[in-house]
Amino acid sequence: MNLSSMKLNRDHFGDPKNKGRILSEDEAVKLLNDWVKNEKLIVHMKQVAHLMAKYAEYKGMDQADQYRWYLAGLLHDADWEKWPESHCRLIIEELEAREVDPEIIRAIASHGPKYFGVEPKTEMDKMLYVFDELSGLVHAYSLMRPEGYVGMNVKGVKKRLKDKSFAAQVSREDISDAAERAGISLDELIHFVVIHQKDTRDQFFS
Ligand SMILES: [Fe+2]
Repeated sequence: MNLSSMKLNRDHFGDPKNKGRILSEDEAVKLLNDWVKNEKLIVHMKQVAHLMAKYAEYKGMDQADQYRWYLAGLLHDADWEKWPESHCRLIIEELEAREVDPEIIRAIASHGPKYFGVEPKTEMDKMLYVFDELSGLVHAYSLMRPEGYVGMNVKGVKKRLKDKSFAAQVSREDISDAAERAGISLDELIHFVVIHQKDTRDQFFS
């Protein structure tokens, strides 16, 4: 894939007058069902959404904000399967057309600065970037452990992180870049993902 072709070449997303506007959960799920067939991709987006909501809760945000964080996670890769060459331009345009909160759209636009050329600025931007790849690595690790998330610890995850052949598609470079931008230690971030991501396992893997 040609990286330069994925650059969004813009830095403003959505309309400030739409602040606080969201898609309902039904609307978001319908959009995902229309756009995404790959169940693994759906699981990935749900896991990231769950982590985003949990992080917003951990930071003391109210339920409306937790849901906005959730939505950014849930929709961030919605156009990846059908239109990989236009990822994430199409989901951005769709959410702009539907007059969704600009903060949600911006977070999606900045979840891969190297690819889309948009710098993560807000806390929501930075955490979506953090959780995207880290969630995938921890998920892959849980699948190879007979006991799944039970007894999983930070040390074990870091070992997999160092082993470049493990879940090789997960960008280690993006993980450390994202952690640095968020100003949170990798240990702390891994711990957060390990304790919260297991909640989604029962939901999506039974
Ligand atoms: Fe993703």
